[in-house]
Amino acid sequence: MPTTATSLQRVSGIAELRNAIAGARQNAARIGFVPTMGALHSGHLSLVERARAECDLVVMSIFVNPLQFGPTEDFTRYPRPIEEDERLATQSGVDILFTPGADDMYPDGRMITVTAGEHGKKWEGAVRPGHFDGVLTIVAKLFNVVQPDISVFGRKDLQQAALVKSLVRDLDFPMTIIVAPTVRESDGLALSSRNRYLSEVDRGHALSLIRALRAVSASFDSGVSDARELESAGRDVIDAVPQISLDYLAVVNPDTMEQETRAGRGSAAIIAARVGSTRLIDNLILGDDDQD
Ligand code: PAJ
Repeated sequence: MPTTATSLQRVSGIAELRNAIAGARQNAARIGFVPTMGALHSGHLSLVERARAECDLVVMSIFVNPLQFGPTEDFTRYPRPIEEDERLATQSGVDILFTPGADDMYPDGRMITVTAGEHGKKWEGAVRPGHFDGVLTIVAKLFNVVQPDISVFGRKDLQQAALVKSLVRDLDFPMTIIVAPTVRESDGLALSSRNRYLSEVDRGHALSLIRALRAVSASFDSGVSDARELESAGRDVIDAVPQISLDYLAVVNPDTMEQETRAGRGSAAIIAARVGSTRLIDNLILGDDDQD
């Protein structure tokens, strides 16, 4: 990965972005796009690296999208360290950094939104009503503005990645979605912008998420395929930590997010829980030795 790129161009308006990209397209550039909400960490940067490997031009967006936050969620306190983000984006080889304001993306008079459908009402969508409509609306808008050849998403947000793939398929976006593995701390904690909210003590409790997923995975590796039995192996880990409040732990098909009856290689164990006031999600693909 190039670490010394110095030519990052930061743009905030849609017209400005379109101009910058049109210039690059004349040179027949293959364009890769990494949408984010900022507070960048190595997970985000791994997506840039993946896009860089396949494209001539890498566009990243940073936009904390109000439409995907519920009224009681952390929209206002979501971290926005834009200068540090710009530095990391430059170092990781982003060519164009798009940092629109809410008025750029949602000018007055907006009426049309994308609806995620049934799969958007499960799991994260059940706990966060309307969340995926907000995600798919902003992602569709960003795809229309950037018009990338590929866009890279993290497996960390498994349901989001599945829904974005469906968006591209169902609304005929002429592009490919790549889903990249979850980047973790050495002790297994999945990197997340929300980890910044965790106190030292909370962080210790947060490790129970990956421990629970690994318990499910180990149980699967030992020959258990009954999904309820697998889930209960994970739930035992969480139940032992009273500081964690579990939203869900389930074994699902990673494409449809339907709960499985019998798990197979490639099924996903998904978890969401609150640690103090911080809500965290994670997942593991069962029977996948290489992952994460
Ligand atoms: P954000 O949470 O900033 O994540 C941006 C991208 O980084 C997503 O594709 C997410 O899955 C990926 N990502 C986050 N943590 C990761 C990790 N530990 N390893 C690998 N990838 C990771 O997801 C969003 O923003 C928004 O919903 C967005 C798609 C930008 C729409 O607003």
